[in-house]
Amino acid sequence: MITNRPKISGSRVLVTGGAGFIGSHLVDRLLKDGAIEVVVIDNLFTGDEDNLKDALSTGLVTLYRDDAELATSLEYIFVNHKIDSVFNCATKALNYSFLNPANAFSTNVNVVLNLLELQRRGLFKTLCHFSTSEVYGSAVYEPMDEAHPKNPTTTYAAGKAAADHAVESYVKMFDLDAFIVRPFNNYGPRQNYKGYLAGIIPITAWRILSNIAPELHGAGTQSRDFIYVHDTVDAVVKLYDVMPKGESVNISTDNQISIKDLLLKICAEMQYSGDVVNKPERKSDVLCHNASNEKVNQMIDYSLTDFEQGLRETLEWYKNNIKGLV
Ligand SMILES: NC(=O)c1ccc[n+]([C@@H]2O[C@H](COP(=O)([O-])OP(=O)(O)OC[C@H]3O[C@@H](n4cnc5c(N)ncnc54)[C@H](O)[C@@H]3O)[C@@H](O)[C@H]2O)c1
Repeated sequence: MITNRPKISGSRVLVTGGAGFIGSHLVDRLLKDGAIEVVVIDNLFTGDEDNLKDALSTGLVTLYRDDAELATSLEYIFVNHKIDSVFNCATKALNYSFLNPANAFSTNVNVVLNLLELQRRGLFKTLCHFSTSEVYGSAVYEPMDEAHPKNPTTTYAAGKAAADHAVESYVKMFDLDAFIVRPFNNYGPRQNYKGYLAGIIPITAWRILSNIAPELHGAGTQSRDFIYVHDTVDAVVKLYDVMPKGESVNISTDNQISIKDLLLKICAEMQYSGDVVNKPERKSDVLCHNASNEKVNQMIDYSLTDFEQGLRETLEWYKNNIKGLV
């Protein structure tokens, strides 16, 4: 237990990117765990106010539709709210880096720099920064533990890696209470399913529900480690109590699934027996993401949802929430 860190229960928390997929589930969990105020800044780039429907109805949540890349937009929030801790979930989707590489990079860097500067000025105590498995690039060795070299293959991942280095160096230089959680691929309800920026599970569900054939990029042999979003959030709030400052920790499962097998599983679960369209391989796609979750297992009581069950619940959510072509 880190003794001088504010407890979540009774605290006031800022979640950047809190109208997004992981951020909105985190907001729900923080409220459940007794946070007395949760402030969200989200420019709704991929986020959706609907994701915060239940949270906003508690009256304990304030949503600022604003840009955390702008230091002044964060500053006025700190003038209006006495924040104890910040969870930094703001990002623009990985696929966006193929459209606007420079901004995908700078969003990931500028938001965390703004936060670190505010923290250095004493405006809040603890920063939990969200990294990504993408910073590792394709595995040099497996399973990838926290010491694995960072070999980003996209500007998205390069920005995330730079952000991690920024957090680590601010901790060393200014003794800030900041740490890094590094989720692997997440899936679950509320993950963006719209257009080019959507991930494999939501876009496939959307295509099937919209009567459009799902797509497979390349041979589909690239593999990923998929973790249910509720398990990630559960791990994050537990890690918050015990993570030493300056450290990072993978949040992953032991399961590897190839993208092709995943696609077939989704088709089977959604009783789709039509065509699958083969598309060219996506440049810079990481081949394998086999994570070590030894550290997280040692640090907390870590529980993981069975993939089949999580996938079923997720697809059920899409069935109830996607209204045909959007
Ligand atoms: N989803 C995954 O599989 C996954 C895996 C590893 C790491 N992560 C990390 O977890 C965090 C949350 O990811 P997510 O999957 O919930 O993504 P998401 O896209 O659903 O959420 C990110 C949120 O940030 C908001 N945003 C973007 N730019 C912003 C800006 N300039 N100012 C304010 N808000 C802004 C978006 O509107 C969105 O709501 C990110 O740091 C991401 O890198 C996610």
